Amino acid sequence: MINEGLPWPEKHRPKKLEQLVGNQETIRALKSWVVSWISKIPSKRAALVIGPPGIGKTASIGAMANDLDMELVEFNSSDKRNRDSIETLVWRSATQQTLDGRPRLILLDEVDGLSGTSDRGGVGAILKVVKDSVYPIVMTANDPNSPRLKDLMKVCQVFTFGHIENNDVEKILKQILLENNVEVSSEVLDEIVEGAGGDLRAAISDLESQVRSGLTSLVVESVVRDSKRGDEETLRHLFASADSKMARRVLSESELNHDSLVLWLEENLHLHLMTPKELDNGFEQLSLADLTLGRIMINQNWKLLAYVYDFLSMGVAMSRSETPFRRVKYSQPTWPLLVWQGDRKRDKQSEILASLSKLTGVSKKRVRKTHLDIIHEILKINHQYLTDFANWLNVDKSSLNQKSNR
Ligand SMILES: Nc1ncnc2c1ncn2[C@@H]1O[C@H](COP(=O)(O)OP(=O)(O)OP(=O)(O)O)[C@@H](O)[C@H]1O
Ligand SMILES: [Mg+2]
Repeated sequence: MINEGLPWPEKHRPKKLEQLVGNQETIRALKSWVVSWISKIPSKRAALVIGPPGIGKTASIGAMANDLDMELVEFNSSDKRNRDSIETLVWRSATQQTLDGRPRLILLDEVDGLSGTSDRGGVGAILKVVKDSVYPIVMTANDPNSPRLKDLMKVCQVFTFGHIENNDVEKILKQILLENNVEVSSEVLDEIVEGAGGDLRAAISDLESQVRSGLTSLVVESVVRDSKRGDEETLRHLFASADSKMARRVLSESELNHDSLVLWLEENLHLHLMTPKELDNGFEQLSLADLTLGRIMINQNWKLLAYVYDFLSMGVAMSRSETPFRRVKYSQPTWPLLVWQGDRKRDKQSEILASLSKLTGVSKKRVRKTHLDIIHEILKINHQYLTDFANWLNVDKSSLNQKSNR
């Protein structure tokens, strides 16, 4: 089976709308919107599906395309490589006929991850595509308050999805157990359902790791740290984590990009995993993460990104079963990371400069001296203005943070 070997939430991705649970009314309304689009283009030419992670936003659009026999073309906004060519691809698929004459459904997934400045790509490019498109475009996003969505909302019919009810989560989990011919105790099942808080992807992932590890009870850790961690701190906390939930949280709060995380781990794994068995396990999981990243790059299947983090947290960090945790001195990965950091830094800086130049009317060449340096000085004295400046410039806070730009 083609889905064999995929993480369970992907293996069990619904193929038809009837396989989805929850948000039934909204899904029906979205389907009518798509169907009516084909006969008459509505004034709001695109749709925006908003809601928390793991509840079937992407899944419902995929299933809908199947049910309506439409050709689904997916783009993910996390894909920042060669933005120009991606924009051209989106525009082409929105304005050109399909080969087989079937109508097309265009999915722009996770648009809250778009770049902020509308003059160079991102939101501006999407607005243009929406205007010219001869096919319905559906976008998805998590955060209704993201400044990135403000302009998009004006041209979009908004559909809001909510959490999945516990009994629906349970229903799906039981079905998956049946299909995989495995069982867990009802206490474990309850705990997974409760712990997932209406996030079905998280529930299915937890079920999978329970079944794989053969454990019978869950340790639910609730350590919340809202401060962002630096690279070495991320590594330290990752390996110090008592369980996989905590390890995953460390990763999700870290600002480290997944590419560099893999490099950092590759360089430093042996400091925490000292027995041959641990090391073997750790490298195996790390290579699974790396393979999955490769798979994402080849197939543009960004849905797999969540599993990269699983391999790194549940996999790599949890491989430390014998070596006691020690504080160690980490070494910085060698050249590939440095190249990558250089690129990112330039990218972020030019985004800020472009935005600043637009807002002030000072040329991009001069605006660093006249404004950006001064903003950095102000932030050094009073860091609490960071959010205000970031909002004003419509850029990520992290890119204004000089520390993370180093
Ligand atoms: N309502 C649902 N019914 C059935 N399965 C679901 C549902 N929601 C999520 N799942 C399961 O979780 C997986 C992930 O769901 P999906 O990709 O649709 O999440 P999402 O809402 O798009 O989340 P994100 O905001 O993180 O992209 C699916 O492949 C499926 O296995
Ligand atoms: Mg999604």
